[in-house]
Amino acid sequence: MSFDLVLFGGTGDLTWRKLMPALFQAHRHGKLPEGGRILAVARDERSDDAYRDFIRERFCDVEADKRPSDEEFARFAQLLHYRRMDLSQPEHYRGLKRWLDEPTAEEGRGGGRADTVVLFLATSPHLFPVICEQLGSAAINGPHVRVVLEKPLGHDLASAQEINRAVSSAFTEEQALRIDHYLGKPAVQNLMALRFGNALFEPLWRRESIANIQITLAERIGVGTRGDFYDRTGALRDMIQNHALQLLTMIAMEPPPSSDADAIRDEKLKVLRSLRPFTPELVARDVVRGQYKAGTVDGKPVNGYLDEVKVPADSRCETFVALRTEVQNWRWAGVPFYLRTGKRLAQRDAQIVVNFREVPHPIFPGTRQANKLVIKLQPEDGLELHLLAAKGGSANSTRPEALSPVSLDLDFDKAFASDRVGGYERLLLDAIAGRLNLFVRSDEQVQAWRWVEPILHAWSHDTVGPRPYTAGGWGPAAASAMVARDGCTWAEEQ
Ligand code: BG6
Repeated sequence: MSFDLVLFGGTGDLTWRKLMPALFQAHRHGKLPEGGRILAVARDERSDDAYRDFIRERFCDVEADKRPSDEEFARFAQLLHYRRMDLSQPEHYRGLKRWLDEPTAEEGRGGGRADTVVLFLATSPHLFPVICEQLGSAAINGPHVRVVLEKPLGHDLASAQEINRAVSSAFTEEQALRIDHYLGKPAVQNLMALRFGNALFEPLWRRESIANIQITLAERIGVGTRGDFYDRTGALRDMIQNHALQLLTMIAMEPPPSSDADAIRDEKLKVLRSLRPFTPELVARDVVRGQYKAGTVDGKPVNGYLDEVKVPADSRCETFVALRTEVQNWRWAGVPFYLRTGKRLAQRDAQIVVNFREVPHPIFPGTRQANKLVIKLQPEDGLELHLLAAKGGSANSTRPEALSPVSLDLDFDKAFASDRVGGYERLLLDAIAGRLNLFVRSDEQVQAWRWVEPILHAWSHDTVGPRPYTAGGWGPAAASAMVARDGCTWAEEQ
């Protein structure tokens, strides 16, 4: 199946930081279908060769084992093309259509046009409406065309709906693929396998057995050079509205009737609709926002957020959010779900911790530690099941001091090393193949905005602003106080 992949925003950060390395890996692993072309589109004039040089230089910033050798790059570069486009000019879209339709000599195409065209919008989202409308007018929206939309999809409910309207004026829902790159991470797919490929967990996956669930997406990095973007966005829109909520839906959803994209997305949507709506009182009680101040990360001093490049000195943008919510249905009633994300935290650590209830009647006094399942997304990809076991199994091993915590530790990176595919690589391959399971449907995305909007609204009326926290820690103390009210602690405090 031959393909043309068009990258709008072809010289931008996302293209060279994430997409090109992912495409190169797919190429290196022989996973890209034959007869493919990758066309980068951007504002300035440059030749195909100049673009290839630009990308080759950018690969220097990629981790060493993901960098191509000269021969590998030469082979990969044959796929790369470049085209200047002014995105407001209808004539430039007609030119693109001619380029897509013209017969080419690529192997596997039989001299015709590509079987599939994927249009990846890696531009600022305010351009999505104009690009989609122009693509529609130029008839680059036939059934073999798909459009991939990169987050942020709007900055609130109204702007997200406006983007959806523009997209749907040119493309059907099946043609519009909304990316959440967390869904492409192997651990997230594994979560589906864990829950619905094993009989073991389902009977326990409910309020009777589970005390609380914690989703942490912690980063060590600060906002870097993205200060102007980040300051308009903040952690709630950047990480919670999309990545953290998507993980929550995967954890909390009911078993879907099949693995079809819509069967799964219907269940995820139900979870989003079951989330307890925020009132101003709940925002004040159950949401903590923070902003990092100068501190030490990895033994090195780092700036506070207000001293980052392109951040206004009086910014009230949050770089940390911790919140408590509930999924209001029979399975989860009363079980707290804690979501937390932040920049400049102590560790890069994305994980979901499922804390089980304690045994109902302890017969080993002093050892009431409950079981917990830790689903690790990064830096490693694995699963830990924490249990209590008897040390040594000797005759006196039932004495309390002889019980000891142990964990079953599955390292999927090691177990499946040769088959592991990175998040963007997975999603790009799926977009080309037309597999929709790992893309977000518009109704899910709209519902997620609907849920976060009262928080944004409450913050806009709040005179206090985010709480400062020291870079290199775990965020404001109020985040610990929030879970302590339920008698809980965050994973690193246990
Ligand atoms: C992006 C956010 O969606 O996800 C970034 O815009 C964040 O701010 C990134 O750094 C984190 O992704 P990952 O895969 O590195 O955890």
